[in-house]
Amino acid sequence: MNFPKTNTFPKTTMLERSMGPNPLKLCEELLDGSKIPRGSVVLDLGSGAGLTSALMAREYGFVVYAADLWSDPGDNMRFFEGVGLSNRQIVPLKADATALPFASSFFDAVVCVDSYNYFGRDPEYLGEHLLPLVKPGGTLLFSIAGMKHDCHDNLPTCLLESWTPEQLDYMHDMDWWRRNIECTQGVEIIDMHEMACTAEAWADWLACDNEYARGDRAAVEAGALDYLNTIAVELRKL
Ligand SMILES: C[S@@+](CC[C@H](N)C(=O)[O-])C[C@H]1O[C@@H](n2cnc3c(N)ncnc32)[C@H](O)[C@@H]1O
Repeated sequence: MNFPKTNTFPKTTMLERSMGPNPLKLCEELLDGSKIPRGSVVLDLGSGAGLTSALMAREYGFVVYAADLWSDPGDNMRFFEGVGLSNRQIVPLKADATALPFASSFFDAVVCVDSYNYFGRDPEYLGEHLLPLVKPGGTLLFSIAGMKHDCHDNLPTCLLESWTPEQLDYMHDMDWWRRNIECTQGVEIIDMHEMACTAEAWADWLACDNEYARGDRAAVEAGALDYLNTIAVELRKL
């Protein structure tokens, strides 16, 4: 696939800062065709080491709040400065997705790449914690590490090469996510589909030199991607 915006970042930056399948490619495919205008105020929720936040601020012209629980906002700010972004364009902060420190209806849009399944599996999460922060008419875009078909009752051995049943419980199929979201009032599902870049996003991740990427290799080499996908979700707040 063609990723002109992703390719403005050196490959070494992706290899050093990814925390899962290439977040730049997932983010670019997710935003492809979306109508979020330049200048929009966007929450990058679970932004990790800031790759997607930098992409959105620099290449899409959004004002980005990069909110993450595990990463150091100071380290992320140095990275943002290094790629030419200032604190007028991007705001890193440490925050828990279940206690976000923002005013109601603050954001024009929310983008969440490879992190929604950490907190969004609770069907109350969307309506209680996230939706109130988005303006009416605002867009929410999620890229979720998923399963082609839920198989938790009979897990294929290739998946168990790298992950425990408890870890695999973070992954679900599109029907499961549709049911999870449909129980929330005040939001419309615009689109859900399997993302096209899954295989290459995983290949980029497995090329990273960190213990998590190394740990994921055994499952993928045993055939895990026959069972896994990435689910794109587009929602509109009513
Ligand atoms: C697999 S990493 C993905 C990070 C980044 N989006 C990327 O693709 O490189 C998952 C991220 O979810 C974040 N996360 C998990 N639980 C969270 C929570 N309750 N609130 C905010 N962030 C959370 C972690 O801090 C971590 O950075």
